[in-house]
Amino acid sequence: MREVCVITGGGSGMGLAAARCMPKEKIIVLSGRTVQKLEKAVKELEALGYEAHPFACDTSKRESVRKMAEYAASLGNVRNVINAAGLSPAMAKPEQLLRVNALGTVNVNQEFSKVMRPGSVIVDVSSNSAYVLPDFMVGKASLRRAEQDPEGFVRKFLRLCSLVPGEYQKSGLAYALSKKFVCKYAQMCAFAYGEKGIRVVSLSPGLIATDMGNLEAGEGGKMLQFTAEQRMGTPEELGYALATLADERNGYLCGVDVLADGGATYGKKFGKSKVH
Ligand SMILES: NC(=O)c1ccc[n+]([C@@H]2O[C@H](COP(=O)([O-])OP(=O)(O)OC[C@H]3O[C@@H](n4cnc5c(N)ncnc54)[C@H](OP(=O)(O)O)[C@@H]3O)[C@@H](O)[C@H]2O)c1
Repeated sequence: MREVCVITGGGSGMGLAAARCMPKEKIIVLSGRTVQKLEKAVKELEALGYEAHPFACDTSKRESVRKMAEYAASLGNVRNVINAAGLSPAMAKPEQLLRVNALGTVNVNQEFSKVMRPGSVIVDVSSNSAYVLPDFMVGKASLRRAEQDPEGFVRKFLRLCSLVPGEYQKSGLAYALSKKFVCKYAQMCAFAYGEKGIRVVSLSPGLIATDMGNLEAGEGGKMLQFTAEQRMGTPEELGYALATLADERNGYLCGVDVLADGGATYGKKFGKSKVH
């Protein structure tokens, strides 16, 4: 049976870059909301010698994700899921950020864990924005609420965001909360799915020169001074990092977040001069 690698948000950016790093024996499924973008990306992969398929899916919609998981399983053994679908503060209002980034991750992890077998892996993409918030802001109760009462989860975090002045700032807080959620939810899933042999890990990029990263370069660019090399990351670097985490040979890397931000978080926290 052929192995299948599903990449949400795979039509562009680091998701597409990750696809280019996957072994060519795997069938690649690229998903996102914009069909033309997916078709273009699939053609690009086919030209490189991959078998790739587009699948239109909005990860914030449970039914849409369920169909994608069933479709992927009909193609073969779903071995790798890279969940790179996401929106940033400049792209969406707080509610959509919570629905896509946070609840989308619940939908993907839950629906794919139903069709995945032992030896498979889910990599959820978070952000180094998760590290600006203290852990208690997204506690265990919020993780459970997102599964059991998603509307209540959205209402609770929207109330919090409404306390912050400024539209961009409200979205910024919603983004950070949603990405903190991704790290902690992926960790919870690692232990929930461990018995089934499904490994779960998350990756938190810093500012990366994708369409999204370029859009956020004004505000996000303030962090670049704290990176070791004073630069943005490239989609190719992050694509490689994602593919590495999704590689079966990394089988003991589980239940953690991997911070791939060029050193920005620690450079800011401790001061670059004190770090070296
Ligand atoms: N670039 C950065 O600086 C940066 C930093 C930290 C974290 N991240 C995270 O990295 C991930 C990848 O982003 P990127 O930088 O590669 O940007 P990107 O090129 O904009 O990729 C994001 C992809 O997600 C898809 N998407 C958005 N909403 C979706 C939804 N509801 N359902 C399904 N797909 C959806 C988009 O396609 P459609 O619009 O066609 O659906 C797009 O192809 C995101 O989760 C992002 O939050 C990025």
